[in-house]
Amino acid sequence: MNFKVLKSKIGFAAEVFGIDARQNISQQHKIELTRIINEHAVIIFKNQNINDDEQIKFSENFGEIEPAGTNTELTKMKDRRLSLKMNDVSNLDKNNKPLAKSNQNRIFGLGNRLWHTDASFKKKPVTFSILSGRKVSLKGGETEFCDMRCGYKALSKEMKNKVDDLVGEHSLQYSRGKLGFVMKDVLTKKELEKFKPVLQPLVRKNSITNRKSLYLSAHLGLIKDWELADSILFINDLMEICTCSDYIYAHKWEENDLIIWDNTQVMHRGRYFNDQKEVRDVRRTTIAGTEMLIDQ
Ligand code: OGA
Ligand code: MN
Repeated sequence: MNFKVLKSKIGFAAEVFGIDARQNISQQHKIELTRIINEHAVIIFKNQNINDDEQIKFSENFGEIEPAGTNTELTKMKDRRLSLKMNDVSNLDKNNKPLAKSNQNRIFGLGNRLWHTDASFKKKPVTFSILSGRKVSLKGGETEFCDMRCGYKALSKEMKNKVDDLVGEHSLQYSRGKLGFVMKDVLTKKELEKFKPVLQPLVRKNSITNRKSLYLSAHLGLIKDWELADSILFINDLMEICTCSDYIYAHKWEENDLIIWDNTQVMHRGRYFNDQKEVRDVRRTTIAGTEMLIDQ
């Protein structure tokens, strides 16, 4: 296998040619691909007609898979469409029909439309996400990525010094709360225990490129030891700086696109599409983190 990288003009995100995700990848290629992901933060492969087992196997080249949906019983096992190694990011129910407007799983899934990094609410936050477009919407439904290295670089010296030492509290309660989903009303006490905020640094440094990036997410709701109102205003300011249009790559999906992004260096969000009329079947595998960044 010989592959080629085509960089996008905006300074991150690259298309990679010459990989067939159904084939085994040599150790050397695995190392090279990992380096490319760390450098470009988002990579795109076209025409990857894979099934779930093939996606899982391909993903395992990059580490262990973080199981999906084990936090809540919001989606009961019997209602799941996909195995626990797959995150169902589609708008579909078990019978492959669009989820109704008021369906709780649909509302919960709408959280993906907020700028976020996947699973930053885990003590050991995940690294790469691998998203496969099995069926894509005709209109809308792009995925946008935002380069958090640029976000950090854009800060004043004073701001850099400030954020370098700050710690954030991340929880699904914060991100879903932003959409009016009051988790304490729908979850049991025991489930709520699992949503206790976890601590993450506001700045991360990539161990391969040595570049620093801001580590923000819709899941970030509070700066440790700060007042809530001060935290919200500060986080909003940082979000505004990072999501400047110069730092954004918007992916317009075609069927069988496969995208890998590095959650430690980019945020992402899904864009609106008519989920009551169109079918959008995108499926994610996620690579588990191996380290806790801050003592909890
Ligand atoms: C995800 C996600 C956005 C989208 O898969 O983690 O946030 O465009 N997806 O579906
Ligand atoms: Mn996501």
